[in-house]
Formats: sequence, C-alpha cells, structure tokens
Amino acid sequence: SPIVLLPGELGAVWERVLSTAIEGGGLTLGQYVESRTQAEKNAQWRKTVDEMPVLSIAPIRHSEVYLRRAHHVLTFILHFYIHSQLPLTGPGPHPPQRIPPCLAIPLVELSKELVMPPILTYADNVLYNWSLNDPTQPLSVDNVKMVNTFSGTQSERHFYITSARIELRGVEALELMKSCMDEAFIGDTISLQRIVGYLHRLSIVIDDMAVLLMAVRDECDPHEFYTQIRPWFNGWSPGAREWLFEGVDEEDQAKFATLSGPSAGQSSLIHALDVFLGVDHTKPETAPSFPSSSTAGSPSKARSGSDPTFLMKMEQYMPRHHRAFLQHLRAANQTHVRALVAANVSSGSVGVSLQAAYDEAVMALKRFRDGHIRIATLYIVSQARKNARPSASAGNETKPNPPVLEEVRGTGGTSLVPFLKECRDNTAKTALGSG
Ligand code: HEM
Ligand code: ALA
Repeated sequence: SPIVLLPGELGAVWERVLSTAIEGGGLTLGQYVESRTQAEKNAQWRKTVDEMPVLSIAPIRHSEVYLRRAHHVLTFILHFYIHSQLPLTGPGPHPPQRIPPCLAIPLVELSKELVMPPILTYADNVLYNWSLNDPTQPLSVDNVKMVNTFSGTQSERHFYITSARIELRGVEALELMKSCMDEAFIGDTISLQRIVGYLHRLSIVIDDMAVLLMAVRDECDPHEFYTQIRPWFNGWSPGAREWLFEGVDEEDQAKFATLSGPSAGQSSLIHALDVFLGVDHTKPETAPSFPSSSTAGSPSKARSGSDPTFLMKMEQYMPRHHRAFLQHLRAANQTHVRALVAANVSSGSVGVSLQAAYDEAVMALKRFRDGHIRIATLYIVSQARKNARPSASAGNETKPNPPVLEEVRGTGGTSLVPFLKECRDNTAKTALGSG
C-alpha cells in the first residue's frame, strides 16, 4: 500500500524528526559531514533524536500498515543519525556506534513484531517508500513515485524506482510460476504443452525486468550513486564499529551489533525465480562468508546446519510474508519444474520444446545477472577505481591506487565481484542443455 503517516504521538514525534532530517543536497557524504555549517546543523538534528521520548509501540502493534511505516521511519532516522556523524579518526579499536534508547527500544520492539532486523532494508528503501503519481489511477510501472531519500537527489529516487518497477513487472512472473506449478501437478501432455507456453512467457517477463534494470542508467548518475547515495546505506561491515542498540537486552544487542545494509539481494522476486527454476546458490564452498552465522540478522539460522549463504541470510531481512512465501514455494516445488522437464526430455516433441522453453527462462535470468554485473561494475567498481585516493608513497601524486577488486564490498557486505559472478554462473549451470 502507498505510505500512510503514523498516527497520534508516534506521528507527532517520529514523522516530525524524519521530516527535519537534513538530506545530503548534492554533497558527497564526506563533504556533508565535514562541512562546518552542515556539521552544526547535523549535531542539532541528532540532538532532537537524542531528546525524543521513549514511545511505546502499543498504539500500532496490531496494524501491519503502521508497523511497516514505523520501521521505514525509524530506520531512515537511524541511518541519518549514524552516517551524519564525523567518522572517528586515529587508531582503533573504536567504541561502538551508539543508538539512543528512544530510537533503539521502539525500533527493536517493532522489528520483532515484523520479524525483521532493526536496520534499513530493501523493504524500507523501496517497498515501504512509494506513493502514486496519479492517485486516481492504479499502481503501475509508470504510476509510482518514491518518497523519502537520504541525498535528496533524483538519482536516489530513480535508483529506488528502478527496483519498484522490476517488482511490479515481476508480478506477472509470479503468476506464471504459479500456473506452471498448477499444471506440473497434473502433469499430462496438455499440461506440459501449457507449461511450455508459460515458460516462454516467463523468459519475456525476465527480459523486460532486465530492460528496466539497465534503465537505472537513465536518471541515476554513477558518481552521485557512489559518493552521495550508497554510503548512507552502509550497515556494519568487517573492521567497522559495531552498532550498540542502547536500552535493549544484551542478547539482542549482540544479535544486532553487526547487521548488514540493504541490498536488492533482499528482493523476494529474484529468490522466487531461483527457487522456481531450481537455481542452487547453496554450495558451501562457494558461499561468501559474511555476515558470519553467529552475527547475522535476528532469527538467522542455517537451514542445513552448514554456514548459510549470503542469499539465505538476506531472507532474514525480508518482510516475513515474503520469507513464508519462499518457504512455501520451496516445499511446493519439491519435485520442481526442472525435474519435471528433465524427466520429460525424451518424451517426444513436447519434451524437446519443454527443455528449450525451460532453458530459455534460465538463460533469461542469466542475462539479467549479466546485466546486473555490468551495472554493479559501472556504479561501484569503476567508481571505486576513480575515487581511489592518489597514492602518497608512490612518488607519482596523480596515480590512483589500483583498487583490489576483491576488497570492494556491496552495501550488503559481499565482496561483490566474485559474489555476483558466482550467482550468474550458478544460474547458467542450471540450464539442462548446459552440458
Ligand atoms: C546484489 C549492486 C540494482 C538485484 C547486489 C550486490 C551489489 C549490487 C553490490 C551484492 C550484494 C551486496 O553486498 O550488496 C547493485 C547496484 C544497482 C543494483 C549498483 C543499481 C545501481 C539492483 C536491482 C535489482 C538488483 C534494481 C533487482 C530488483 C540484486 C540481487 C542481488 C543483488 C537479486 C543478489 C545477487 C544475485 O541474486 O545475483 N547488487 N544492484 N540489483 N542485486 Fe543489485
Ligand atoms: N547493494 C548495492 C550497493 O552495494 C546498493 O551499492
């Protein structure tokens, strides 16, 4: 649903504090925190956060709509609060980032109601952050706009809207998956023929999603993205200060000290496509090891006893209905479409077209991931290269340090280049004709 402001005292305090947060306004996050006039205003604003009363979430506990809004509002305040401070300099270890009780207590409490971690997620950036351009018309790819930003830039709005549009286009993908599974349940020749049609259609939808993804370049400037937008998303990452949620019990403090920042890896749509097509990202030897299992989001548990992969952990950052849907899909798809296709490969012409349609869908998802790697390269890797500080010791002041690509991390905390390639390769391997 489009955003609905919080009621009563919660609205009067939390909505007001968020609306007075000072967006970056065209400055890089570094310039923003270091500029003196800005630093004073930021200190002033953080004081209004510190001085908020500790409010009870009782008035909204039973309203899903308000709980989501409150998660969005408080996690935006949280990231404004943390990232508008000057970073500590000098040798560490540094004390943890403190989050005052008036923010920490209600955020942790309402996150528990939502079964989400108390940090900015993809849902807060995108799913809980839109309204209609034209309220008299239904929600669609063209009739959606984004509301809150950190930087105040069109680039940030366009970054979010890109995801929103992919989600909206993906609704048809979900319907097609359901139709396939219904037909697979019957499994006669006519059903198989219908599945061929649905899979073919699914490839077209996934290709459309890739087109929408590449269109992020239309209005999201890579340099702005890298310097003005994504630094606001950061959660904890290895070597950084832990986050201290003051006033909550110690067990929760330990659980929430090292949460990771938002990533579209938290989009249930792409996970659903993987589950449906049978793409396996769980190979333990290929899994990136961050965040470690002992420190991940609240209810994080390895499904198999082994260290959960990044994508499994990202499930813990999704709204609980999305997580439940994926679990349901996994169970319902036990004898999944891939097995059905494989079992029918030699059953005449329908078997041949079935495999072709299935492989086409898998390869469409692989192409989506190819495009995504190009985007991540353009928006992060190339920017990291350009923004690398000139090496002081090299004698040549203008020569930038070559970035060590393995060290470039996504806001979700992965070492992104190997990770994204891994995801793409796992997809390509899934095609039955892949050898
Ligand atoms: C993961 C970058 C847009 C879907 C990631 C990761 C990075 C990244 C660095 C690795 C996880 C992390 O540590 O954060 C970007 C950039 C984007 C962008 C720079 C645009 C400027 C999108 C969009 C979608 C998307 C619009 C689709 C809704 C995914 C998925 C993953 C992921 C599904 C998990 C890896 C996978 O399944 O292949 N992204 N992303 N990304 N992103 Fe994006
Ligand atoms: N996950 C994306 C990044 O790392 C947003 O920048």
